[in-house]
Amino acid sequence: MNNVNLAAVGVWDPILSGDRDVACATCHHPSHAYADGRAISIGVGGSGLGPARRSGALTRPMHRNSMTILDVAWNGLIATTPSVSPEAAPMFWDSRERSLETQALKPLQNQEEMRGDTFSEEQILPELVRRLSVLPQYVDRFATAFGMSDEGLPVSHSASKPQSSPGGA
Ligand code: HEC
Repeated sequence: MNNVNLAAVGVWDPILSGDRDVACATCHHPSHAYADGRAISIGVGGSGLGPARRSGALTRPMHRNSMTILDVAWNGLIATTPSVSPEAAPMFWDSRERSLETQALKPLQNQEEMRGDTFSEEQILPELVRRLSVLPQYVDRFATAFGMSDEGLPVSHSASKPQSSPGGA
């Protein structure tokens, strides 16, 4: 299992959302050009995919539309800058984050997109690490992709080591 395959598994799995109801692919789906085809995305509490997706009782309003992630590996590459460091690659409509590793944590922590109400912003990453750490299929894939031992599983490449979740669950 290489990094690409590991990422492919992760983006489909709602286990990465606080209430296990949203996956990255909910808003970045291959059927909708790795976006969602909506004017405004719908995250937690919603149902359905793409333009047919509908808000639910727990849905909180989002303010932007999802963009395709098909070409995200080339972010920052323009004619006048023939090379860009992956660590400096701009992310989001307003380029407010740099690098895929940094970006990937944001939807996990965002209340409207994936976190929901059950876990706080401080609790969610340790909670996700705890969830993945007990699943052999993830432990094995992380070990193969990153050459890691049981030292820890990164939620993104830069996440912290597993620790107990203050929120329980
Ligand atoms: C509820 C919908 C939703 C979910 C779920 C979601 N995203 Fe997004 N994504 C968006 C929106 C909306 C933006 C643009 C946000 C902005 O510019 O402020 C975005 C932007 C991005 C970008 C930036 C692309 C670029 O070219 O700058 C990447 C990469 C990305 N998402 C990856 C992910 C990953 C990985 C996950 C899962 C961990 C995920 N997204 C989950 C809606 C979502």
